[in-house]
Amino acid sequence: MDHKHPENLFAIVAPGLEAICARELAGLGMADLEVVPGGIGFIGRLADLYRANLRLRTASRVVVRFARFRCRAFPDLYRAAARLPWGRFLRSDTPVHCRVTSRNSRLIHTGRIAETLQAAIGHALGQEVAPVDAGGQLLLARVVDDIVELSIDSSGELLHRRGYRTSVAAAPLRESLAAGVLGLLDWDGGEPLADPLCGTGTFLLEGALLAAGRVPGLQRQFAFMHWPGYRAGLWEQLCSEARREERLCPVAISGGDADAGALAAADANLARAGLVSDVVLHHLPLAAQPVHSGSGLVVCNPPYGKRLTTDEPMEDYFAGLGRELRRAYPRWRKALLCPDPRLARATGLPLRNVAELDNGGLKVFLYATD
Ligand SMILES: C[S@@+](CC[C@H](N)C(=O)[O-])C[C@H]1O[C@@H](n2cnc3c(N)ncnc32)[C@H](O)[C@@H]1O
Repeated sequence: MDHKHPENLFAIVAPGLEAICARELAGLGMADLEVVPGGIGFIGRLADLYRANLRLRTASRVVVRFARFRCRAFPDLYRAAARLPWGRFLRSDTPVHCRVTSRNSRLIHTGRIAETLQAAIGHALGQEVAPVDAGGQLLLARVVDDIVELSIDSSGELLHRRGYRTSVAAAPLRESLAAGVLGLLDWDGGEPLADPLCGTGTFLLEGALLAAGRVPGLQRQFAFMHWPGYRAGLWEQLCSEARREERLCPVAISGGDADAGALAAADANLARAGLVSDVVLHHLPLAAQPVHSGSGLVVCNPPYGKRLTTDEPMEDYFAGLGRELRRAYPRWRKALLCPDPRLARATGLPLRNVAELDNGGLKVFLYATD
């Protein structure tokens, strides 16, 4: 990809986060946004692609949609693919991981589509390309109604892997989901934030990054860094610009957990992100949390009995959760993730359903008070 010409770019997002990611892209000044289920198309140059990877908090990856053609036979697929300018993205020794989906099309055998594309790329680059099942450069091939669409992934590891949350505990949230939840709740770093069931601290980390003007991609590598035309100077310039926007976290951010291991993980993750002094952690059960005066947003991802269980029946646990949230955060907005409307009702809180989301393959609802 060269730096002058606009390309069709696409930010892939988890279900339910499309509108929030579109808001982020609009905030970055990206043009011609087209929101569809699963992502947002936009037009951008190389610098926009780098900036999207560096700054987007809610996207899973950003791809370049670089070819689209009608095709109904394998020899035609080979010929069309062999003519494409693969050298913009691949070195002759780059292993390629081809991920194919096909629907309602003559070309239906996804394994053979991948083999044909690999062979065509090898022909174009003058050297056989090593196929890999993971790692390597990801190529997405989507065939729908005999239209082949090829996209090159620019992100590499999924964007929720920011590089600092390496200490884990049970059932952590993806960072992109936590950032999306904060966006859906219109939390912009202007009021206090708390998560008294913080686990590894994902809501707190994402909140502190946002409030401190810290972009999420500064500490990691991206697939585009291995492309032949990678412009390290441009990347450095964008990183320097982002660093100049950093400020001291202007609001109180606090969390707690009853589990010492989870809290130690949260502490270690905050330390790696350089946010220890911005977030106050308490090793306390929610019932022992002091009363928080004033207002703010308290958000949590409680156990729902799927991956994490509780000692008491789930409905009783949620009734206690609602009671304790009201006691410890009387005038704060309250929000929680939960897969079951009955459990949300059991809290006794005046919750409305804000969004339907996907938490690691499990459908969950985001509930919040007004
Ligand atoms: C699903 S995990 C939260 C995961 C977290 N959002 C993350 O991204 O890592 C639920 C957490 O709530 C904590 N927890 C459950 N009930 C609690 C209570 N009454 N008081 C404090 N912590 C509690 C558990 O120890 C667990 O770490």
